Amino acid sequence: MEFEKVVMNRHASRAFTDQKIDSTVLENIIRLAQKAPSWVNSQPVQVRIATGTTLEKMRQDHAQLNQDTSVHTDSVIPYRPKNEWDDRSQANMNAWFEGNIEHVGIDWRLLTTAAADEMYQAQAVVYLSLPQDYSEWSLIDLGAFSQNIMLAAADQGLGSLPAFEFVKYADALRTNLQLPNDQVPILGIGLGYIDEAAAINKIQADRVSIDQILTILK
Ligand SMILES: Cc1cc2nc3c(=O)[nH]c(=O)nc-3n(C[C@H](O)[C@H](O)[C@H](O)COP(=O)(O)O)c2cc1C
Repeated sequence: MEFEKVVMNRHASRAFTDQKIDSTVLENIIRLAQKAPSWVNSQPVQVRIATGTTLEKMRQDHAQLNQDTSVHTDSVIPYRPKNEWDDRSQANMNAWFEGNIEHVGIDWRLLTTAAADEMYQAQAVVYLSLPQDYSEWSLIDLGAFSQNIMLAAADQGLGSLPAFEFVKYADALRTNLQLPNDQVPILGIGLGYIDEAAAINKIQADRVSIDQILTILK
């Protein structure tokens, strides 16, 4: 696919069909993602992909943890409530919420909560981890690696979702992913073939105009 088309086609998908993804497709995506730059070529990102029965067990555990009101997130990157973000970010988040009401309806939150319990029915979840004592620079490397994964997936006709939801319960993840003690799970990216008929996939995300973010100094 043409580069611009791939970039423009990528968007967050929150419902996937039950079509499985070939292992060779997953390997190719990660091979391409590895071309991402990293600090002094340190290549700090480790990848584990949950599929099949492993993922089904994780889906069940996840739904249970979401129902249990005594359990809160223990994500490695701490959760930050919306009201603690800077004003500009809060305004953009609010605009997204309003757009969701417009595109999906007043019940959009109920749909996203239900989809989150099911880990969005993703057919594969790519978990990206870093060494326990990672440098903050490695987070930039992991972000670049992540975007490459999502673009490579889009190029293969796959949808993707980077989500806090996938790494919300880090302790449970460590067990289910058999993660070595010196690794911490940072981000999960759900992959699958997009369920185009799902109401939740009517969610769209606009971008602010470029003059709100860009200054070119001459
Ligand atoms: C670090 C990160 C975490 C995210 N976590 C979630 C999540 O937990 N649940 C969700 O539905 N979307 C999540 N998203 C998706 C964003 O809501 C989405 O990328 C944003 O609204 C822009 O939409 P687009 O990706 O379709 O362009 C996350 C995105 C990022 C980058």
